Amino acid sequence: MAAVPESSAGAAPEARGFRAWLNKRMPVDAFVAEQLTGYYAPKNFNIWYFFGSLALLVFVMQILTGIFLTMHYKPGEMIAFDSVEYIMREVEWGWLIRYLHSTGASFFFIVVYLHMFRALMYGSYRAPRELLWLLGMALYLALMAEAFMGYVLPWGNMSYWGAQVIVNLFGTIPVIGPGLVEWIRGDYGIADATLNRFFALHVIAVPFAIALLVVLHLVALRQTGSNNPDGIEIKKNLGADGKPVDGIPFHPYYTVKDILGVGVFLMIFCAVVFFVPTFGGLFLEKPNFEPANPLSTPEHIAPVWYFTAFYAMLRAVPDQQMGALIMLLSIVVLFFLPWLDRSPVKSIRYKGMLSKIALTLFVITFIALSYLGLQPADGVYVLLARIFTVLYFAFFLLMPWYTRAEKTKPVPQRVTYHA
Ligand code: HEM
Repeated sequence: MAAVPESSAGAAPEARGFRAWLNKRMPVDAFVAEQLTGYYAPKNFNIWYFFGSLALLVFVMQILTGIFLTMHYKPGEMIAFDSVEYIMREVEWGWLIRYLHSTGASFFFIVVYLHMFRALMYGSYRAPRELLWLLGMALYLALMAEAFMGYVLPWGNMSYWGAQVIVNLFGTIPVIGPGLVEWIRGDYGIADATLNRFFALHVIAVPFAIALLVVLHLVALRQTGSNNPDGIEIKKNLGADGKPVDGIPFHPYYTVKDILGVGVFLMIFCAVVFFVPTFGGLFLEKPNFEPANPLSTPEHIAPVWYFTAFYAMLRAVPDQQMGALIMLLSIVVLFFLPWLDRSPVKSIRYKGMLSKIALTLFVITFIALSYLGLQPADGVYVLLARIFTVLYFAFFLLMPWYTRAEKTKPVPQRVTYHA
């Protein structure tokens, strides 16, 4: 046998080809090994775990359709409405791009609300995932700002009056309020300057902030690892190979599962885009098919459905300043969730009856408030909005009490999994 030259004895043969060239310059294989094939996620994920990847999908769709809309849309109070009509009637496939974008906005909120509800059910906001939750809340705020400013751009009559109501809310802040409103608008009323700055923020600044927050959200998720429907920390139970015994590699198992979710989601999404894009006035409101008119207020000013729960709380209080404060607090209180839940267990599966009743009531409350925000603010609607506002806050403020007072079930050692 020929002797092996001394210099190369024991050394692995040097990898060749494009992949090797690339890996020398960028750690592609190492990234896949660490973050996908080597990242172990709990094996008991259920359908509630589809919505994170779906939120990511919708975000990418909004960016792509937004780029094409921007090619034809023109900001400016004299031309914005007409440019949207031009997109709908003259630009090739313009109607599709616009409906994908407007339906995408509503689906973004549907997906994110389901994503947040999953966290409420399984206690995913609890330690060690508090920062993940806070970053999620920051994303939610950014998403609200993005949707609000996007809604103003077509310069329909509801765009105009909606902006009027929301921007005026800043005027209820003591001392600086009136000056702040003028600064936001850039004029003495909602005007051309307002539309132009909202366009800049909607197209560049806020999407950029959202993209950054998504990256931070995912980095924080990788640090703690995912929670799961049993609320068990799988990292605490490692096998002889150092991997969690209740975990499976993210790729291929969850990439394939997420693709199934994407397929089902796209079928529902396309059905809405092609057959009911206005969704009976819920996704695109009727007054917004008329150009903005400062002299004609729509009969009922209401925001799009995803904001109406908060809008109902705003109107439930007779004093405008107090109403604005209640609305602000209804969002702020969500940030404190990780510290309000004092239960010894995370998942609703092992919590007691009080938590189960509270969560069910909370879902009913949120849906009821969303409905009431779409109705005129008088008579029985206001009374109901007051009752549900109290129930909304009770869910959070009584949480330290009912999560400790109830009897919880024992949490198993291993996750519950049926193949
Ligand atoms: C643009 C919006 C968002 C995107 C793209 C996004 C993306 C994701 C992804 C991909 C995951 C992992 C997969 C999953 O658990 O479903 C995740 C997990 C999580 N997200 Fe989000 N998210 C968004 C908004 C939010 C919001 C608004 C909240 C809450 C306020 C939130 C809270 C969480 C929590 C607590 C987890 C961990 C869940 C668990 O492990 O049980 N996210 N997110």
